[in-house]
Amino acid sequence: MTNQTDDTAIPDDLREAYERRTPRSRALADRARAVMPGGDTRSVTYHRPYPSYVDSASGAQLTTVDGETLLDALNNYTQSVLGHAPEPVVEAVCDQFRAGNGIAAPTEPVVGLAERLVDRLPSADRVRFCNSGTEATMNAIRLAMARTGNERICKIRGGYHGTHDIVEVGVSGDGREHEGIPRSVERRVQTVTYNDVEQLKATFEVLGDDLACLILEPILGVSGMIPASDEFLETARDVTYDADVPLIFDEVMSFRLAPGGAQERRGVEPDLTALGKLVGGGLPVGAVAGREELMEQFHPETGSVDHSGTFNANPATMIGGAATLEAFDGDAIEALNRHGDRLRTRLQRIGDDSAHAITITGEGSLFQIHFTEGPVRNHHTSAAGGPRSEQLFHAMRREGVFVAPRGMGNLSTAMDDDDLEAIATTFDRALALLE
Ligand SMILES: Cc1ncc(COP(=O)(O)O)c(C=O)c1O
Repeated sequence: MTNQTDDTAIPDDLREAYERRTPRSRALADRARAVMPGGDTRSVTYHRPYPSYVDSASGAQLTTVDGETLLDALNNYTQSVLGHAPEPVVEAVCDQFRAGNGIAAPTEPVVGLAERLVDRLPSADRVRFCNSGTEATMNAIRLAMARTGNERICKIRGGYHGTHDIVEVGVSGDGREHEGIPRSVERRVQTVTYNDVEQLKATFEVLGDDLACLILEPILGVSGMIPASDEFLETARDVTYDADVPLIFDEVMSFRLAPGGAQERRGVEPDLTALGKLVGGGLPVGAVAGREELMEQFHPETGSVDHSGTFNANPATMIGGAATLEAFDGDAIEALNRHGDRLRTRLQRIGDDSAHAITITGEGSLFQIHFTEGPVRNHHTSAAGGPRSEQLFHAMRREGVFVAPRGMGNLSTAMDDDDLEAIATTFDRALALLE
């Protein structure tokens, strides 16, 4: 069906259909390239031949500048858990913004959101806010280094924790590092394979005394929405406890899996938790939460770790986060997770009946489509991303559903049964297009 020249190309008919439907996006992309490298400012939103530009977003739908309406099954990489522009959040944020936002003093909304998070997260006694998941993991690691006096960290090969230097090491599955990261920083990172219990134990036997922390996601996100086994999470807790090294859970994505995040769902409590995305109600946010003894290092009078930021805990973000958590309560989460379970089962069946080798991974409202027989347990066995995923992205987009170019998706509470059905039938049609 295509004049595909190599397996990294977008099939000609899909590319042509895309270009035909998105002339305004193309014009904007041309303008953008003159002022931004690659015409974009966020690597993950870029895709070939050029990204389409969104004009507005409401509920479960995106409207592009080209007048297309797409079902958003990406939700800003899990942030828009209530869908787009949810009324109570918009109202609360706008009211707060009118009441003044850029204030160099604490406000009541920050206390309110901190109380909600401490209430929900089993392992949290204290919280500090920042402006991104990147800052959250950076600050959590900094606390761990200050507490242990060690500079070396242990992380998961393929684990993504944002864009500060030390966590950019060991993100790609193939061992290649991004340029611009000092070699001295690379040497401070020990990676282990996700779900490899023996390797984790062996690493801690040899290096335990030299480590500042173990940082991991309870579900490995960028590398393919791969849930940790219970044994792996329990081992992570045990080895860090024995070595007296802080265990950091990056719950920037997985917090949506239960009122108290994946740690509550899986029954394993870290010492520190990094949060972001949904806890800001659509505005930039990050947060570090954790045990009192570690967190009190941020105390301005008695602690020794500095932590500032012009926009930290700005009241509009805090109010937006609180309004989001108010709506995203236990019942809403449970219903969304059930939808996710149903959808993943359905997608797997469709994959099994197709001409492709497909494995669907995920947990709760998170899913990933892998072009592989599976099983998928770590970065070695993951098939997230790559040319096949990009082709699927274009095929699904043509049929009206927007997922990540690397084949990841997630649900929002703005979606109804028809939307779930649309994702499944679109996946079916898209796979047929790629045969
Ligand atoms: C697990 C995880 N940690 C950290 C981050 C970084 O968050 P931010 O993009 O807000 O810096 C992300 C972003 O996608 C993430 O998925």
